[in-house]
Amino acid sequence: MATSTPSLPAHQEEFFWHNGFLYLDKLISDDELSMFREVYDRLFDQRAGWDDGRQFDLGGTDVEGERPKLPQILRPSEYAPELADTEYLRKARAIAHQLLGGDLEDGNGEHMIFKPARHGATTPWHQDQAYHDPDKIFRSVNFWLPLDDATVDSGCMQFVPGSHRTSHVVPHHSIGSDPTVHGLEADGPDALAPYAVACPIPAGGCTIHAAYMLHYAGPNTSDRPRRAYILNFTATPQLREQPIDNYWMREKRTARMERERSATPG
Ligand code: NI
Repeated sequence: MATSTPSLPAHQEEFFWHNGFLYLDKLISDDELSMFREVYDRLFDQRAGWDDGRQFDLGGTDVEGERPKLPQILRPSEYAPELADTEYLRKARAIAHQLLGGDLEDGNGEHMIFKPARHGATTPWHQDQAYHDPDKIFRSVNFWLPLDDATVDSGCMQFVPGSHRTSHVVPHHSIGSDPTVHGLEADGPDALAPYAVACPIPAGGCTIHAAYMLHYAGPNTSDRPRRAYILNFTATPQLREQPIDNYWMREKRTARMERERSATPG
């Protein structure tokens, strides 16, 4: 069936390309939201993906017995098949298709970042592409859907409007300048904070952002958990003439990488 109705009205599409981000108050049904909460809690309680290096502390070093500050799961649908066919996935793909056109790669960017109540740490300023292949220029849309009302004090998303209008990756370093920590932070983050626009949104709403967007989420100082479920869609990337020198990734040596290596046959 041909659909000619775009998922986003023209003014939202324009806002997105001008600013590099957009927020949508409600994207999924309450039923799907309840299902996501159940699955989310189960996956973190059961430490799904830990042995494969797919669950780890984004903001710490995975020391046994220490409570993670920023637990993350990569590709959660591989541990919970009910996530493979959802309203969220369908709607997000349709929006990404409207914004990017053409063939889309998905799946690799699916992850969950959890900020436990009164414990979850800051997600420092970064560009997602600082983690990605330095040989490529990306065009992508990232969807960030909270399962709890996300406010400034629980760690909602914050963006620097317009910072997506580049394919440049600014220099990054590991959080705390510790290469055994997975997470990255852009150099000189204090210079970015004055330009930040915070995007509080209700549970089941969504923020989306473009490739190269500088973004941040504060610590969770509230009494509520901040559970975020993230999807990413990427158009076929272009090769760069000159690869980025991402020395911040080459120096990484995390416990997560060790577990991934031991779990991979051969
Ligand atoms: Ni990010």
